[in-house]
Amino acid sequence: MAKKLYIKSYGCQMNVYDSERMADILAPVGYAPAASPEDADLVILNTCHIREKAAEKVYSDLGRLRLIKEERISADAAAEPMILAVAGCVAQAEGEEIVNRAPFVDMVFGPQTYHRLPEMVARAHRATGTVLDTDFPAESKFDHLPDAKAKGRFSAFLTVQEGCDKFCSFCVVPYTRGAEFSRPTGQVLDEARQLAEGGVREITLLGQNVNNYHGAAAAGEWSLGRLIAELADIDGLERIRYTTSYPADVDEELIAAHRDVPALMPYLHLPVQSGADTVLKAMNRRHGADDYRRLVETLRRARPDLALSSDFIVGFPGETDKDFQETMDLVAEIGFVGAYSFKYSPRPGTPAAALPGQVDEAVKKRRLAELQDLLNAQQRTFNDACVGSVLPVLLDGRGRHPGQLIGRSPFMQAVHVSAPDALIGEIAELSIDGAHPNSLAATLAPAAGSEERVVA
Ligand code: 5AD
Ligand code: SF4
Repeated sequence: MAKKLYIKSYGCQMNVYDSERMADILAPVGYAPAASPEDADLVILNTCHIREKAAEKVYSDLGRLRLIKEERISADAAAEPMILAVAGCVAQAEGEEIVNRAPFVDMVFGPQTYHRLPEMVARAHRATGTVLDTDFPAESKFDHLPDAKAKGRFSAFLTVQEGCDKFCSFCVVPYTRGAEFSRPTGQVLDEARQLAEGGVREITLLGQNVNNYHGAAAAGEWSLGRLIAELADIDGLERIRYTTSYPADVDEELIAAHRDVPALMPYLHLPVQSGADTVLKAMNRRHGADDYRRLVETLRRARPDLALSSDFIVGFPGETDKDFQETMDLVAEIGFVGAYSFKYSPRPGTPAAALPGQVDEAVKKRRLAELQDLLNAQQRTFNDACVGSVLPVLLDGRGRHPGQLIGRSPFMQAVHVSAPDALIGEIAELSIDGAHPNSLAATLAPAAGSEERVVA
C-alpha cells in the first residue's frame, strides 16, 4: 500500500524548493502526499534557524506531532509507527540537541543530505534511536536528485546556488547551509527546460547569494547575468526572477541582463539591512549605505521601471537612534515596493550575539513599528500608482471568490481579476482598477482596436 508523506516548510523559498525535492526523491519509494500530519506515515519538518522565533516554533510543533504519533500507536499497536523527521537549518545547527530534547524524533538531517532520504527512512524503520545525518558531504545532492517536475504549476523555484561565504555577523546561514556552491550551468538549463516543457512560464532562481553564481559551463564559468540571458532563450519560459542577492556582488553582466533581457522581471529583492555605515560595518557587510545608493542608481538607469524590495534589521547591537534614522532616511530616499524587516535576534554561535550594546527589546519594537509604517506606506503608494495602468499578469490559479483568478504582476503584486478558467497559465494584459495594501484588483484589458480581450 502506498505510504503517505507530509512535509511542512518553514522560512525561506529555498526550503520550499528543498521540500518539493524531498517529495520527488521519496515518490519512487512509494510515498504519496498526505493532506495532514494525522494521515501521514512520514512527517518531515523542514525548518528555519534564521531567527529565534522560527526555531522555537519547531519545538512547539514537535510537541503536537508527538501526540499524533502516540495516538496512532495506542489506536492500533500493530500499525507501523509514524516516522517523524526534522530537516533543514535547525536540524543542521541543533542536531544533537534535537536528539536529546526530543528523542521521539526518528530522523534528523541537514539541507545537504536529503538526497539520502530513501536510505535514511529504511534505517529509521530498523533503528531504535534517532538517525542523524548532518554531514556536509563531498558529493552534491543535486547530482542524486530526480528531475524537477512542473506538477501543473506555472511558476516554479529553481535553486542554482547555495550556501554563503559572506559571514554577516548576525547570520546563521554560512553555518547551516555551508560554503557557497553553484550548480553547473548544464544541470540548471536542463532543469529549466524540463520545467518549461511541463508548462512553467516563470522561474525564480534561488540562492542565498544568488548573484555570486559562477556555474561551471562547457567553457569556463557563467555568471548569473549570463545564465539569465541563456535561460531567456528557452521556449515557453517568459519570466525570470532571482533571489536573494548581495549588493556588493552585483556585477556588470547582471546589470546588462536587467537592461537587455526583457524576460528578467523589473523587480529586485536587494537586502541592505541598515542605512548606517557604522552598523553595516559591525554587521560585516561589504558595502556602505552610499554604495547601495549608487548601485540602485545604476540598476535604475539600466532598467528604469525596476521596483525594489529589501530586508532590514533594526536594533542590531550598538545601533543608536541616529543610526536608525539613517535607515529611515535611506528608505525614504530609495522608495521600496515591499520589504521584510526584523528585530535583531541574537543567534548562538554568530559573532554579533556576543557584541556589547545589545539593544533593548522595547527600543527594537518601537523602531520596527516606525520602519514598517514607512515601508507599508511606500508599498501602498506604489500599488495606488499602478491604478489606471495595464500590466501583464501571469494568472496562476483561482482566487477566493467564484469566477475569480489570481496572478502576479511583473512587480510581484498579487492581482485579482474576474476571468475564465481558460486563462489560467496565461500572461494576460489586465487593466488595474483598484489597489489594496497587499494586492491589486483588475479587469481584462480590451485589445487595442477591438472589443476582443487580449492575451499575450
Ligand atoms: N536577526 C534578525 N534578522 C535576521 N536576518 C538574518 N539573520 C537575522 C538575525 N539574527 C534577516 C536578514 C536577512 C533575512 C533573510 O533575515 O535581514 O536578509
Ligand atoms: Fe546571511 Fe549575509 Fe550570507 Fe545573506 S549574505 S545569507 S545575510 S551571511
